[in-house]
Amino acid sequence: MISFSVAFDPNKGIGIRGALPWHLKDELKIFKRNTLYKNILMGQTTYDGLPRKLVDRYIIVASIDPNYHPEDVDVINDLKAFLEEHKDDETEYIICGGASIFRQSYPYAKKAYVSFVKEAYEVDTWFDNFDLADWDIVCEEDHPDFIYRELVRKETK
Ligand SMILES: NC(=O)c1ccc[n+]([C@@H]2O[C@H](COP(=O)([O-])OP(=O)(O)OC[C@H]3O[C@@H](n4cnc5c(N)ncnc54)[C@H](OP(=O)(O)O)[C@@H]3O)[C@@H](O)[C@H]2O)c1
Repeated sequence: MISFSVAFDPNKGIGIRGALPWHLKDELKIFKRNTLYKNILMGQTTYDGLPRKLVDRYIIVASIDPNYHPEDVDVINDLKAFLEEHKDDETEYIICGGASIFRQSYPYAKKAYVSFVKEAYEVDTWFDNFDLADWDIVCEEDHPDFIYRELVRKETK
């Protein structure tokens, strides 16, 4: 199964200059809770911009560069082929951004872990094809700076 984990502001903004626009400790704790000991997939830009190494997770990085081989991660050069191959697996693969990877993976995702950041930030990257109308909300937590929701994709008739 493909899922994704994202935090975005009221304009669906997710990043600025290769980093997150905000520093929300509680949101990072939720990200950790949801991804620990899981398979997570992110784009090269997001992986290279991580402030510190993510431990205790199996990390897959999407890059079109055949010479890109960072330590301790698996690299895939064809995201679409990966999504097609794993979309019906029982194993969950959590897409963790950034914008180009979210955009391409969105149609495949059956579940989502989303933090709706309450304040609008200065951003240069958006998750523009996300549409709340595609999802049922199965869990909601109100935090001071964001509302965290778990979503499952609506059945299509
Ligand atoms: N708020 C959040 O939850 C959140 C989460 C993650 C990241 N972010 C933010 O998002 C921003 C980064 O997003 P981004 O869109 O610039 O970069 P990105 O999605 O992290 O990474 C893009 C990388 O993936 C490669 N790629 C794209 N499509 C591919 C495919 N089909 N197969 C293989 N590789 C592929 C790209 O190669 P090419 O460049 O050659 O196309 C590029 O190297 C940062 O600001 C980051 O902090 C926010």
